[in-house]
Amino acid sequence: MKKVLMVYGTRYGSTKFTANNLAKEMRKLKLDVKVLDLKKEKWISPQGYDGLIVGVSVAMFKWAKEPVKYLKKFKKDINVPLGIFISSAMSVAERDGAIKKFIDPQMEKIGLKYDLADGFGMYSDLSKKMGFAKGILRSMVLGFSKDRGKEYKSTGINDFVHYDRIKIFAKDFAMLIKKRS
Ligand SMILES: Cc1cc2nc3c(=O)[nH]c(=O)nc-3n(C[C@H](O)[C@H](O)[C@H](O)COP(=O)(O)O)c2cc1C
Repeated sequence: MKKVLMVYGTRYGSTKFTANNLAKEMRKLKLDVKVLDLKKEKWISPQGYDGLIVGVSVAMFKWAKEPVKYLKKFKKDINVPLGIFISSAMSVAERDGAIKKFIDPQMEKIGLKYDLADGFGMYSDLSKKMGFAKGILRSMVLGFSKDRGKEYKSTGINDFVHYDRIKIFAKDFAMLIKKRS
């Protein structure tokens, strides 16, 4: 069974949610996926894995710091297919724009090339404690809810995740691994 390491950095939980969904899809494709929360768990090298996926929370136009540090730390060990996905408000409606704005420049700064990139939208659980961010998230998801005629839940889950893209990403990544081996 081919092994995939998926690491992520989340601030408010959306990247964790999408990482777990992506892992579920990849396991359906018979891949052995290890998911690692870079804020909470011990970091491991991608060496010995057949693919690496990095999930990134975007806020205030910036990546969460852990995925940046992880990619820099293990840059030399990354010689397998590399997938990057973001969780960002912009990626709810403007997937291509979000990749150009938030993924490409940061990867150039780090000095790494990805094989696959996507933005999976966002998932906001507004029942959770999160300080000042909650007001900002509320106004974002209220706007998305209005635009899409969806019910807005001021103290609950507002789901603007592109599950279709998660499935496609899983399939495309599995193909990349197959091609390289
Ligand atoms: C304080 C704050 C700033 C944000 N800034 C941006 C931004 O610059 N661009 C964007 O597309 N989304 C922005 N967002 C939306 C986040 O990208 C979105 O909530 C995402 O799901 C966060 O991922 P996480 O929950 O894994 O941390 C912002 C959200 C907050 C709360």
